[in-house]
Parts: sequence; structure tokens; C-alpha cells
Amino acid sequence: MKAILIGVGCIAALLSAPAVAQDPNAARNLAATCFTCHGSDGRSVGGVPPGLAGRDKAELLQTLKDFQSGKRPATIMHQHAKGYTDAQLEAIAGYFANVKPGPAAPAPAARGGY
Ligand code: HEC
Repeated sequence: MKAILIGVGCIAALLSAPAVAQDPNAARNLAATCFTCHGSDGRSVGGVPPGLAGRDKAELLQTLKDFQSGKRPATIMHQHAKGYTDAQLEAIAGYFANVKPGPAAPAPAARGGY
């Protein structure tokens, strides 16, 4: 009986989970659109634009929502933030919050081999 209840609970949890939670790579795939400017995994090169890795999830999410609404001044981030739903922004903020901050990977040319 207990096992059946646990099983039913799992199915209920799966059904109620947002779509982004079903694909384990979904959050990273969304966050990857930010890597071009904010550095791989949000580890920014020289801090411009600012790094996102390891920042507080709630603060990141609020900043993104403020970009979306236009409350926070920006050059590019207004357009970028508007392309995502609230659930996607939450997944993106959660992804960066869980990345350990660290130095940006060197650019390919700096690694040699070219
Ligand atoms: C085309 C380059 C570009 C892309 C792509 C980009 N950003 Fe930005 N981001 C910027 C710039 C430039 C700023 C500084 C504000 C401005 O001028 O828009 C910024 C600022 C921010 C800030 C505020 C940082 C701070 O400490 O003030 C956050 C948070 C942020 N971006 C998150 C994201 C996320 C999340 C994505 C991906 C969904 C993303 N950005 C994609 C260029 C980019």
C-alpha cells in the first residue's frame, strides 16, 4: 500500500512539474544563449558584461524581470529578456545560481594549437 501511494505521488509530481523540468539539459540549453556575452557558464571574461555564475537566484530572476518590464535600464537586455517566459527565466536564473563561480575559460587562440 505504501509503495502504491509513493508511486501515485511520483506520477502526480511529474504531471505537475513545468515542462522545463522534464529535460535535464533544458535549463542549460536556455542558459547557453547567454554564454556568448556573459561567458561560458556565466563566467564572464573581464567582468563585461557582468558574470552570472554563482549569483543569487532570486536576485538574478528579479533583474531579468526588471529588464523584461523595462524598469531596469539596458542596451541589449530588454530585447533579450523579453524572449523568455517566466518559467524559462526562473530555470535560467536557477542554472546560473548553481554554477560555481570561477575564472573564464581562456579564448581558443590563447590556448594555442591554432
Ligand atoms: C548580446 C549580448 C548579451 C546576451 C546574449 C545576454 N546579455 Fe545579459 N547583459 C548584456 C549587457 C551588455 C548587459 C548590461 C546591461 C545592458 O546594457 O543591457 C547585461 C546585463 C545582464 C544582467 C545584469 C548584471 C548586473 O550585475 O548588472 C543580467 C542578470 C543578465 N545580463 C543576464 C543575462 C541572461 C540570463 C542572459 C541569457 C538569457 C543574457 N544576459 C544574455 C549582454 C548580453
